[in-house]
Amino acid sequence: MSNNSLPKPYYQDDSVTIYHADCRDILPLLPDKSIDLVLTDPPYGLGNQEWDKQMPYGILTYCLEHYDCPIVWFGSAPKLPADIRQFTVAPERVLVWCPRFTQSHTMRNKIAYRWHPIYLWRLHNNHNIRWDIIDIPTESWLPATRNWWYHPASKPSELISLLATLATGNGVILDPFLGSGTTAYCAKKLNRKCIGIEISEDYCRIAARRCSQAVLPLEVEQVQQGQGDSQPLMFPIMTPPTKGNKVRDKMSVNKVIKETNGE
Ligand SMILES: C[S@@+](CC[C@H](N)C(=O)[O-])C[C@H]1O[C@@H](n2cnc3c(N)ncnc32)[C@H](O)[C@@H]1O
Repeated sequence: MSNNSLPKPYYQDDSVTIYHADCRDILPLLPDKSIDLVLTDPPYGLGNQEWDKQMPYGILTYCLEHYDCPIVWFGSAPKLPADIRQFTVAPERVLVWCPRFTQSHTMRNKIAYRWHPIYLWRLHNNHNIRWDIIDIPTESWLPATRNWWYHPASKPSELISLLATLATGNGVILDPFLGSGTTAYCAKKLNRKCIGIEISEDYCRIAARRCSQAVLPLEVEQVQQGQGDSQPLMFPIMTPPTKGNKVRDKMSVNKVIKETNGE
């Protein structure tokens, strides 16, 4: 790659482009104003995963300065006070994603966290989000809900599809922290375009596999709170997290990688 040209995508189709890279290297190569929505679920700084050392506040500032579009940025409840202090521009709204159960590893004072903040900037009114509390269930790695695209922080497609309605027309959605590719998968189903960047090749592989199989478009009108394409899960609130979660997580990621390799 020359100094200022984009590298060859890891995966590309008519809707989705995935770069296997550090987003800090790719973002400066994307033209300003080429993005219609930044929708991302970055590292939270909880330290539960290798990739989760620190929230990348600098990338948020970069997006605020270089793109004039809406920005949707996931956070974590324990880090909300620190996040608010670090943001260079205060969010306009905070949505609360409050699934019926969560695999959060995080508890304090013997109380497990069960909600996640979603920070929003540059909101417009043309979207299908109706309530600031969103109770869409997680697609988790509990045995009964096991999804092959396992990622310890994968977000439900119903939730991401709802937030993706903030990208108007056939707009381009940027996710600099793509993980298992949920944003790209949902963008494609909603007839939008997505540029995704992911530093882990294992997750790029899973994301590419998901996108190559996402062929059925979903009507935007269908995507309203409670009407997405994932099945409602009939689970009670789970027992608060235990130390064993980390082990299960690693094992299941390895299993998915093997499955996507056809092993
Ligand atoms: C919270 S996860 C995203 C999960 C995603 N929403 C999903 O549904 O699968 C954050 C991801 O950011 C990736 N990541 C961390 N630092 C990165 C960087 N500098 N550039 C690109 N990706 C990065 C991690 O590997 C991790 O997969």
